[in-house]
Amino acid sequence: MTLEPSDDIRRTTCAVVLAAGLGTRMKSALPKVLHPLCGMPLIAYPLRALSEAGITAVFVVHNPELASMQQHVGEQAVLVPQSPPLGTAHALAQAQTHAQGFADVVVLNGDVPLIRPESVRALVQARRTAGAAMALLTAKLPNPEGLGRILRSEDGARVLAIVEEVDCTPAQRSIREVNAGAYCFDGAWVWSALARVQPNSRKGEYFLTDLVTLANAEGRTVVAVEALEEEALGINTRVDLARAEAAMRRRINTAHMLNGVTLVDPERTYIEPNVRIAPDTVIWPNTFLRGNTVIGAGCEIGPNTTLVDAQIGQRVRITYSVIEHSRLEDDADAGPFAHIRGGARIGPRVHIGNFAEVKNSVLGADTKMGHFSYLGDAIVGEGVNIGAGTITCNYDGKDKHPTYIGDGAFIGSDTMLVAPVRVGEGAKTGAGAVVTRDVPPRTLALGVPARVVRQLDSDAA
Ligand code: UD1
Ligand code: CA
Repeated sequence: MTLEPSDDIRRTTCAVVLAAGLGTRMKSALPKVLHPLCGMPLIAYPLRALSEAGITAVFVVHNPELASMQQHVGEQAVLVPQSPPLGTAHALAQAQTHAQGFADVVVLNGDVPLIRPESVRALVQARRTAGAAMALLTAKLPNPEGLGRILRSEDGARVLAIVEEVDCTPAQRSIREVNAGAYCFDGAWVWSALARVQPNSRKGEYFLTDLVTLANAEGRTVVAVEALEEEALGINTRVDLARAEAAMRRRINTAHMLNGVTLVDPERTYIEPNVRIAPDTVIWPNTFLRGNTVIGAGCEIGPNTTLVDAQIGQRVRITYSVIEHSRLEDDADAGPFAHIRGGARIGPRVHIGNFAEVKNSVLGADTKMGHFSYLGDAIVGEGVNIGAGTITCNYDGKDKHPTYIGDGAFIGSDTMLVAPVRVGEGAKTGAGAVVTRDVPPRTLALGVPARVVRQLDSDAA
């Protein structure tokens, strides 16, 4: 998505994300805003929307008694403590010393992950255009349950109040327009207004939503910006979380499809927000693309495959497999049932077949590893054949040791490579060899423990 660059919004607008609530309805030891949604903590989503909207001065109100938030907000945002949490208005007031002086103050609930940068900017625009005390994001929902209802002026142009569901009269309860939990305030007004908010008679909390009534009482305007339905999906329970996950998944997957990626069954394809996929790649169902995975063009991935922080070249085929923190170069293939992990680098056209595990190893171009093998801490040259059942015995119970296999070597079925060990270029090992000593280039080693039995002429190698 491209938004017009705006130095203006950067200079004049700050944002406060409210994330100090206890989240009791989640019934969790983990703070609500740290629950993952499509692989990222909830709090990451409003932060991302703000950054894409061009707002760089961002303050996150958090509860210092709950888990540490710093690692999740990164360097982008300044943390502001609120303890105890006395309501959303009280939360915003904690940020006053940081946020004072900005002409526009955007406020986002930390538990509303589907908010889009377009809507953030629309809020700022709407407030400025109307010279309003505040603009707020609303949505009309078929089922508005649990959310604050919007009371509008007779002509519909202005918002008169937000009434929390529990405080609604039956007539108010039937209103389908709700407060999505995103606002832009007039920075010259909001701080003094916050000081005038009275605690809610029922809960004793200070409600940010009371600023709407206050503004109206002072003759100031409050305007609404209408959002997509899904943007109003706030997370209070794990039921909400699952609903938001489905909506976010749909949004991510739609973007990939429009970008030229085939998702055979988008409802059963799980792609995290930072994943990048080039066009003409096909993703089969029940595939999980996680972290910072990058996939080139023309690949076939899945079904039943998990990629975590994987770097995949072009025309790569991976099926029924797990690839973690590893790279597969162009035209390589893996699976069914391969596990490639720990920073492995798989060269071009390499074939990794059934029940193969590769850990922290480099496999040169055109090497083949078809069946039932384990390579750990190995450096393998080009055009090597790894026979069925080959194992690098890389761990002696205390330390890990490397294995080197030269270009064009042929490792016979069921060879045990007891590391540290080196098999030279063009060398061969016989079936069942237990290699405890280096095998010189272009020789044949057989037996247990393996001995070199003869030199191979270079043609045979
Ligand atoms: C709030 C709105 C409601 C709106 C809904 C949208 C109020 C009073 N009500 O209700 O009109 O429809 O959001 O999702 O604002 N928080 C703090 N400190 C506190 C209390 C809350 O930082 O003391 C944070 C929470 O972590 C959360 C956000 O503020 O991220 C909203 O609080 P929450 O208790 O979830 O409000 P809702 O009941 O959902
Ligand atoms: Ca909420």
